Amino acid sequence: MKNIDSYTHVRGESIYLDDIPVVNGTLYAAAYDSPVAHGKIISLDISAAAAMPGVVRILTAADIPGENQIGGIIPDEELLAATYVHFCGMPIALVIAETDEAARAALKKIKVVIDPLPVITDPREAKEKNELIIPPRTFLLGDTSTAWEQCDLIIEGRADTNGQEHLYIETQGAYAVPQENGALRIYSSTQGPTAVQRTAARVLGLSMHHIEVDTTRLGGGFGGKEDQATTWGVMVALAAHLLKRPVKYCLHRMEDMRMTGKRHPYSADFKIGLNKELKILAYEVTFYQNAGAAADLSPAVMERTLFHCTNSYFIPHVKATAYSCKTNLPPNTAFRGFGGPQGMFVIEAAIAKAAEQLGVPAATIQAKNLLQTGDAFPYGQLADSEANECWQQADALFNITAQQKAITDFNASTSSYKKGMAIMPICFGISFTKTLMNQARALVHVYTDGSVGISTGAVEMGQGVNTKMLQVAEQIFSIAPSRIKINSTNTYRIANTSPTAASAAADLNGKATEMACHEILLRLKEVAAAELQVAPASIELKNETVYANGIATSLDWKKLVLTAYVQRVNLSAHGHYTPAGIHYDASIEKGHPFTYHVYGTSITSVTIDCLRGTYTVDAVNVVHDFGRSMNTLLDTGQCEGGIVQGIGWMTMEEIVYDTAGKLRSNALSTYKVPDIYSAPKHITIHPLNTTKDNLALLRSKAVGEPPLMYGIGAYFALRNAVKAFNPTADIPFATPLTPEKVLMGLYDGGVIK
Ligand code: MTE
Ligand code: HPA
Ligand code: MOS
Repeated sequence: MKNIDSYTHVRGESIYLDDIPVVNGTLYAAAYDSPVAHGKIISLDISAAAAMPGVVRILTAADIPGENQIGGIIPDEELLAATYVHFCGMPIALVIAETDEAARAALKKIKVVIDPLPVITDPREAKEKNELIIPPRTFLLGDTSTAWEQCDLIIEGRADTNGQEHLYIETQGAYAVPQENGALRIYSSTQGPTAVQRTAARVLGLSMHHIEVDTTRLGGGFGGKEDQATTWGVMVALAAHLLKRPVKYCLHRMEDMRMTGKRHPYSADFKIGLNKELKILAYEVTFYQNAGAAADLSPAVMERTLFHCTNSYFIPHVKATAYSCKTNLPPNTAFRGFGGPQGMFVIEAAIAKAAEQLGVPAATIQAKNLLQTGDAFPYGQLADSEANECWQQADALFNITAQQKAITDFNASTSSYKKGMAIMPICFGISFTKTLMNQARALVHVYTDGSVGISTGAVEMGQGVNTKMLQVAEQIFSIAPSRIKINSTNTYRIANTSPTAASAAADLNGKATEMACHEILLRLKEVAAAELQVAPASIELKNETVYANGIATSLDWKKLVLTAYVQRVNLSAHGHYTPAGIHYDASIEKGHPFTYHVYGTSITSVTIDCLRGTYTVDAVNVVHDFGRSMNTLLDTGQCEGGIVQGIGWMTMEEIVYDTAGKLRSNALSTYKVPDIYSAPKHITIHPLNTTKDNLALLRSKAVGEPPLMYGIGAYFALRNAVKAFNPTADIPFATPLTPEKVLMGLYDGGVIK
């Protein structure tokens, strides 16, 4: 089934936040944000701004009726800076005006004097100064201290990954409309409607039941709206609450880039030990996460880095430590993969370095160390592994040896261009790492005309979760898809939702939908059984027809629904789902945090232009563990999008903050994301069909984040291509590997001076 939004998308009829018709009397907000990265506010003069035409009011921290606090995991982040600013872009004041233009014009008249304080942008420096968001955490397996003795090769090194701008097409935004009795409705472009509701209640000093958050869809979130949509939702709520008028704020692109956090940059030190048989015996790694100026989701992201630090390999002796380092950058946040990719890059770097030292292809080491079913992850969970199956099928389909030989032959034939190849196996755990977040609810109504309305906690952000919810109901009721509508995500219909994140939205909300639909179906079957005077167990619904003992009857879906209504049978149900069997004990760092893992193997090949340093990604060939995909169009799209986004992170997307903490890559002229020309020429996604009875929705495994990590292969393929031209190039394990850095690697030993 096609994405149910595709029709309105291509006609431009889909409703995003900025398409919601505004109510008469709507005001517009704009935030005044700190021009310096760290300092004490000495004075704030809003008088000239307040006198500008159209300005209704300027709000500061002093106007907040409840708590000036938006921190989710740790209460360490103010909505509006009261005394201290901690990053460039930190909101200090909020201008409310009759028009968007008037609000932004007034921003220029605000005068602030800030006494500067020392600025830290580097996570290692923050760690040295003990500026940590939370205490460090260490995952242990076996005993690395004794394992080194058994190793024949020990390699140490450093690996750094840069951040990534979410660049959702729809920027952050929200629109609050006052309701009767002091209540508020907030339309928010958020992945977490409940987070907006809870935080607005806290800041406004209201109860959660006063606040309705409604989300129709997002023009992309990618993690950037899991926590950080809250800021804007709460700002408009605050203004609407105080002024008793509707207030809207849609960020301009440069405001969004400047004021919001990104994927966490990481720096890491690694040490890896192998024996002669190329088995990895020991691995030690220390991660320095650049958290930015407040916790946001950093502790959870850091945790997932540790969970994925050995990727899809079994290593008997592991010691992995992570520090969440507080710097004066905007608080970094969730981004597709949620710290996992950062952990996986480092183990791949360690393997690549060992392979270079040993003069063997990295693939040889990778293949020898893949997880087998029953192997333990460092956190104690035992793998139900598809790692070998994916790798072997990729080899069978795409012939790794033959491809490598073709590349070697090509490279021998010319010095103008060089090709490189890399294999990237992946393993990604599905579930929120915080066990309690793994819960979801769905509300299903069957109307008397046989049409069905469904609400869940899932937010549609392009990934197609609404289509999957519709498919669930369609299959259970066996009715035409046109009878089913998926409604906006709304905190008055579905309460206490977890954000749409962790790739788990379809699983969690889909299972809740399944439960609610089954409950209604059961009641309908009883009605049908009584009507037809047979046992309920002999009733089946197929293609809108009621079957009794396998024989079609004259009762159809519409008649059955109406009959049930006439008999005063409840045609609505509320499903509540929590996956069984997951738990985690952080005090010993052991447990079973994931319902299951997603596996896969990609083979990436690239060509570099040895005169210019420019390159193309020729092909990404993948065998991916979909379970049994419930929607191949959507799932293939998720793979393709994830791969291109991952390649962008690894190769061209370069976030630059200067030492004063100012974002230099603050516009699309200075921050380059992949376009159609830089996307791989070929992407082939081959499904590894597994039908194990896992906990995925309809046995269709979660697909949102894992494919991004195939993009890591692009870095290593490029590295191999550079080394084919300049074998002594010592290219740092530092991303993105931009054309400039490739050029330096070709001619200058790898390091930009
Ligand atoms: N796909 C699109 N088109 N837009 C998005 O914003 N977000 C990704 C992924 N795929 C995203 C996307 C992220 S970060 C996650 S966690 C999952 O979708 C969330 O949706 P799911 O749980 O339904 O897979
Ligand atoms: N993944 C994504 N988002 C999250 C998680 C997670 O594990 N935990 C909290 N938010
Ligand atoms: Mo996705 S980073 O879990 O929103």
